[in-house]
Amino acid sequence: MPEPCIGMDIIRYGDGDISFSKMSDLAYIIRNYRLEDLNKLLQFVAEVETLGEACICATPQDLLESLGLPNHSPEDNLFIAERAGKIIGYLDVMPELNIGRAVLSCLVHPEHHRSDLPESLIERALNHAKELKLNVGHVNIPQENRRAKRLFSKLGFSFVRRFLELRLDLSKAHLPKFSKTTFQLRRLRKGEEEKLTQIQNRSFVDTWSYSPNTSEDIIYRLGLPHCSVQDIILAFEVDKPIGYCWTKINPGEDKANSEGRIYMLGVDPDHRGKGVGMHVLVAGLSLLKGKGIRIVQLTVDSANKAARALYSTVGFEVWKSSLWYEKALANPL
Ligand SMILES: CC(C)(COP(=O)(O)OP(=O)(O)OC[C@H]1O[C@@H](n2cnc3c(N)ncnc32)[C@H](O)[C@@H]1OP(=O)(O)O)[C@@H](O)C(=O)NCCC(=O)NCCS
Repeated sequence: MPEPCIGMDIIRYGDGDISFSKMSDLAYIIRNYRLEDLNKLLQFVAEVETLGEACICATPQDLLESLGLPNHSPEDNLFIAERAGKIIGYLDVMPELNIGRAVLSCLVHPEHHRSDLPESLIERALNHAKELKLNVGHVNIPQENRRAKRLFSKLGFSFVRRFLELRLDLSKAHLPKFSKTTFQLRRLRKGEEEKLTQIQNRSFVDTWSYSPNTSEDIIYRLGLPHCSVQDIILAFEVDKPIGYCWTKINPGEDKANSEGRIYMLGVDPDHRGKGVGMHVLVAGLSLLKGKGIRIVQLTVDSANKAARALYSTVGFEVWKSSLWYEKALANPL
């Protein structure tokens, strides 16, 4: 492996695998992720999390789950910044080939925020996304992270969407009572993963930046710890799924600290406006309540009027937000 060079700009080597910083005393390398990095990477994310940074990265658990996704190859798409054998940053490029976008998530240790490392990692990620022939790069930035907003704006990204985190205290929720309906509700069963894939892709067909899932993705997500087919409510008309609500629990130290999540919820476009969304939502919330959950969270696009009205009817309130920034990749950096 070549040694870091003193006083030089970032250098690319033949296979594009390694680059160095310019200052000898702060030399770092950026290289592709290797399987043996996993524990160190998760520790790094957990350590920086304790410093209270509003980061544009996943939690250790989310990162672990995304690294295992069937269509993600971290050895090709995740870049590690390392200094003296210690991880000091990473950038993950999640390629969504079917919609031509790359979703970036990154984390740099606060000690290196003022160095050229954040910019070098982003530059590296964008070049990789271009090599994959993706058209657009997206990054989700917490509302309060001014440094990240400034940096991505400087690199040609611009604001495109605001996403809201909503919260509901189930002990104060206004859950409506229903009369008879033309559809039936029941939980998903093992072996019905394809049905869930179809209703999910159909429900989100017109949704901004939605990348259709494969059954493989869905099976992987259902197999993660604390997930099960039993967490999903389906609405059926005869034997056709027309809507669904996928609930999750983020376990805390004990039941009182565990939080529920409406992870995904959608209705077939041909069956909207007939109460299906409200029915599956209330069934999902009741399922969580029955498991002892009090606080439920979800993420919604602020421009999604139908979903926002649905959630506010039962009492969800905004508690924080994040901003999506995008950059078209056709132009050179
Ligand atoms: C959001 C969505 C689930 C609503 O499903 P739905 O079955 O049409 O909703 P319902 O008929 O049960 O309506 C329940 C409430 O939602 C709100 N709502 C639903 N559609 C609406 C619309 N087009 N405009 C404004 N409010 C709307 C209303 O408050 C409505 O109550 P009301 O009928 O008493 O006025 C559906 O539009 C959808 O699947 N969208 C795409 C996927 C999505 O965005 N999911 C949410 C991701 S966070």
